[in-house]
Amino acid sequence: MPPSPMTDPFADILSTTNTHRAQHSCEAYPYDKGTLLGVLAAAVKATRIIEVGTALGYSALWLAHGAPNAQVDTIESDPEHVRIARQHCIDYQMSNRVHVHHGDALTVLDGLDPNAYDLGFFDGLAPTPQLVTGLYQRLRTGGVLACANLTLGPHNADDLLADPDAWLAHSFGETAIAVKR
Ligand SMILES: C[S@@+](CC[C@H](N)C(=O)[O-])C[C@H]1O[C@@H](n2cnc3c(N)ncnc32)[C@H](O)[C@@H]1O
Repeated sequence: MPPSPMTDPFADILSTTNTHRAQHSCEAYPYDKGTLLGVLAAAVKATRIIEVGTALGYSALWLAHGAPNAQVDTIESDPEHVRIARQHCIDYQMSNRVHVHHGDALTVLDGLDPNAYDLGFFDGLAPTPQLVTGLYQRLRTGGVLACANLTLGPHNADDLLADPDAWLAHSFGETAIAVKR
């Protein structure tokens, strides 16, 4: 169930993102289950969160909202998205906790701490084995990955998250939730 605009603290960003995409024909499709991200971040009591696919910051702010003590590293390749997302973090007084990294996800992931993050969220376009592996390496044992867009590309949860020695996973629709073994 997506958050209603009445109860979504970031409803303005959701709507700005949809308007931006319509104007620029870009890939900024906001993740419409912001509450799921907030609930996961709170349940995990995350202190470090990593995200691939910031767009204009909607999901990153929900992750930070759910875990008030967390630092969020979020990665975005489109420079205009990065600029606007950083401004949104300032507007919502989250710029001290949400760090928007500009670059290609695989390259930026490589430079971030391994075995360190409590929660990861993939919302770049279609997930690939390389990107899921990059996030796996950043998570601590017992860390949780939410992976969106499973229906966009050739890879679904059954091949990305199938290794029982690596993940305990559950998928629903185009999203999967998995725990790093
Ligand atoms: C589905 S949107 C993300 C939506 C965002 N999570 C939200 O809820 O508003 C995907 C974003 O991933 C970015 N992206 C696509 N491929 C990427 C890559 N390889 N590295 C970093 N960002 C990428 C796109 O520019 C786009 O902004």
